Amino acid sequence: MSAESEVRQRIQSRGKITFAEFMDVALYWPHGGYYTAREPVGAQGDYYTSPAMHPFFGALLSVQLFQMWREMDRPSPFTVFELGAGNGLLCRDICSYAAGLPDGFAVSLRYVCLDRRAAGPVESRALGASRVLANGLPFKNLTGCVLSNEYLDAFPVHPVVMTNDGLQEVYVGLNGDELVELYGELSQPGLAGRLDDLGIELAPGQTAEINLALEPRLIEIAAALKRGFVLTVDYGRTAQDLYDPEARLRGTLVTYHQHVQTDAPLTLIGRQDITAQVDFTSVASAGEKAGLNTLGLVTQRDFLSNLGLDRLHQQLAGQSLTPRQMQANRAGITDLVRPGGLGEFKVLAQGKNVGTPALWGLERSDEAASPIESLAAPLLTEHHLSLVDGRHFGGEAESEAF
Ligand SMILES: C[S@@+](CC[C@H](N)C(=O)[O-])C[C@H]1O[C@@H](n2cnc3c(N)ncnc32)[C@H](O)[C@@H]1O
Repeated sequence: MSAESEVRQRIQSRGKITFAEFMDVALYWPHGGYYTAREPVGAQGDYYTSPAMHPFFGALLSVQLFQMWREMDRPSPFTVFELGAGNGLLCRDICSYAAGLPDGFAVSLRYVCLDRRAAGPVESRALGASRVLANGLPFKNLTGCVLSNEYLDAFPVHPVVMTNDGLQEVYVGLNGDELVELYGELSQPGLAGRLDDLGIELAPGQTAEINLALEPRLIEIAAALKRGFVLTVDYGRTAQDLYDPEARLRGTLVTYHQHVQTDAPLTLIGRQDITAQVDFTSVASAGEKAGLNTLGLVTQRDFLSNLGLDRLHQQLAGQSLTPRQMQANRAGITDLVRPGGLGEFKVLAQGKNVGTPALWGLERSDEAASPIESLAAPLLTEHHLSLVDGRHFGGEAESEAF
């Protein structure tokens, strides 16, 4: 049964379903759910993510992981547990660059990719990484770092709306044969509870999306670590900003199909991505309740710059490339830090039993340049977006919603 048939059948047998349940089926239904049926990232997919833009992203994350390892007195193994690892390109870029970092970091590095969906083509080439197919986190007491890029934004959300009848939730029902959005009572008290906890009262007519899976997932993430860090990269904002009615009266839920933002979630079911921005205030506070220290929240632009983006750029300039190759590489790097695009993504760092070290990605430090001094800058490969073979669209390449 297709994802759409499953949605219709549930509504016919039980009545309207929450939007979050609809989104879960549309994205993850085993027979034709969006993430089970296709590779979403890349020219043949629907959007691009940072790992696809340029291997500098993985290289600079590798530098951050190297510093974490050093701060922890070089444990071996140092496990990097990547959640929502997708096609494995980030894993490949991190492992490749780590191989050149000093002090035997690569020997201690153990990389585990986890995703709800089966492995894509890239990951199998990554050096020594393993892959786990799971929705939850089947590990405990690791020493290392739980890492993710665009993982939390792919979780089903509950949209709520401030109506004349008070706070209501968005459901999906049928009007004749047509799938429609309907308002109804809140399905769970935790929805109002989340806004109360944040001290947020929605304005009349305002919509806000709430990810109720954050708390249980942060408990699992904290439990997965005995000692180490959590690094979460995604588009999103602090709650005050995210739920500001002046800026985002209609919320942030968007849909993507073939690199076009379509914004019609009840159509193209199983064939388009549905996503909403991450509330980083709630991720941080859920982490704190679960035993994680909040170490800092910065933009991706600042994070990559602090870690030595300029230094890598200089190294790139010294390599003998054709003008076209140089242009392609520079375009990918620029996209990673573009204002109004990927550069505005956020990086949240949390720690467990590691004290409060000054992470290089959070604060500029001259030290960050030293491990990469003698390494060649990594270049675009056939797995990345590339001008050379015409796959780069130039200028504002489509990254997921911001
Ligand atoms: C937007 S994609 C990002 C993929 C990759 N991290 C990247 O940056 O290209 C989101 C990924 O998270 C995975 N995902 C979503 N929810 C998950 C869950 N609960 N457990 C594991 N993986 C999940 C999806 O299957 C998908 O591969």
